[in-house]
Amino acid sequence: MVATVRIIVTGGAGFIGSTLVDRLLDMGHEVGCLDNFDEYYSPAAKRRNIEPALQHPAYRLFEGDLRDQSDVRELLEEVQPDAVVHIAARAGVRPSLEEPRIYVDVNIHGTLNLLDAARDTCQPHLLIASTSSVYGAETEVPFREDAPLTSIVSPYAASKLGMEAMCHTYSQVYDLPIHVFRLFTVYGPRQRPDMAIHKFTRMILEGETIQLYAHGETYRDYTYVDDIVDGFVRGIGYDASPWGVFNLGGGRPTYLTDLVAEIEKALGKEAKVEKAPPADGDVPRTLADISRAREHLGYDPKVTIPEGVPKFVEWYLSREG
Ligand SMILES: NC(=O)c1ccc[n+]([C@@H]2O[C@H](COP(=O)([O-])OP(=O)(O)OC[C@H]3O[C@@H](n4cnc5c(N)ncnc54)[C@H](O)[C@@H]3O)[C@@H](O)[C@H]2O)c1
Repeated sequence: MVATVRIIVTGGAGFIGSTLVDRLLDMGHEVGCLDNFDEYYSPAAKRRNIEPALQHPAYRLFEGDLRDQSDVRELLEEVQPDAVVHIAARAGVRPSLEEPRIYVDVNIHGTLNLLDAARDTCQPHLLIASTSSVYGAETEVPFREDAPLTSIVSPYAASKLGMEAMCHTYSQVYDLPIHVFRLFTVYGPRQRPDMAIHKFTRMILEGETIQLYAHGETYRDYTYVDDIVDGFVRGIGYDASPWGVFNLGGGRPTYLTDLVAEIEKALGKEAKVEKAPPADGDVPRTLADISRAREHLGYDPKVTIPEGVPKFVEWYLSREG
């Protein structure tokens, strides 16, 4: 990594953001976290996520909302960061069908506030968290960054694609250095409670029946959070081009039924399962072609599902206990 010393992480109290913040602090950087502790899931869980960082002298917490132009602008003016890793978002595919507007507000308008502030202040390197959901339902696997993005099936994915388009525009028109990272289903300690591995773990322990959508025949490229963090860290040091899009995935598919079997094994408890039809908004499969990130960033995901699921379960049980 190059001599970047001041980094802002938006969404730095969430699952991926707080894990990245801890890594950057360990590496000796100054880190500012912007987060509004929104109520999509327990703000208390986010407060727990940042407990280690709060002990660190090089950490500053800025409680503020991306949707508020002045919050974002004042933060950049004050900190003058070398890089901003923009992770804050309204995430979640299925809830976006119920509340599409908040996805547009946070993911498009919120990002636009950041882009304007970046352009008008210190022009930091921007690293933007996007999603494999932009590849939609029809793209050929493995997904390559240059695939046409014409089969989106959720407002969440649509908002992220809009965000990407706005970022591309600002990089071209205002010469802002921007790199977009399309993340593939991320898991590990601190994972959001609405995500499959977390939800299934809780349901198996509580004896509830798990619904396997699309009859369990879908597969996903589950990626361990430390590998994703590694991708961002490598991206912060990357300045070869002013614009680029990178997939950050594990590069391995796991069927839903196999995922449940791994969780059962880690918990030592059998799941009650029920097969269900496909859920609206879900894509049937995801798989990353990670050759671009490998070549340009040296990205090299390491943690497999049989290694990563027990780590998640260990965290889950330690937290409950
Ligand atoms: N978790 C995954 O599998 C996954 C997959 C693909 C992409 N992503 C992307 O990665 C990013 C992080 O995902 P996550 O799973 O860590 O989610 P998360 O919900 O745990 O983290 C998002 C954080 O952003 C904050 N936030 C939300 N709205 C905000 C606002 N208006 N102003 C300031 N802060 C705000 C939240 O309080 C939260 O702490 C998101 O951009 C998401 O779209 C995640």
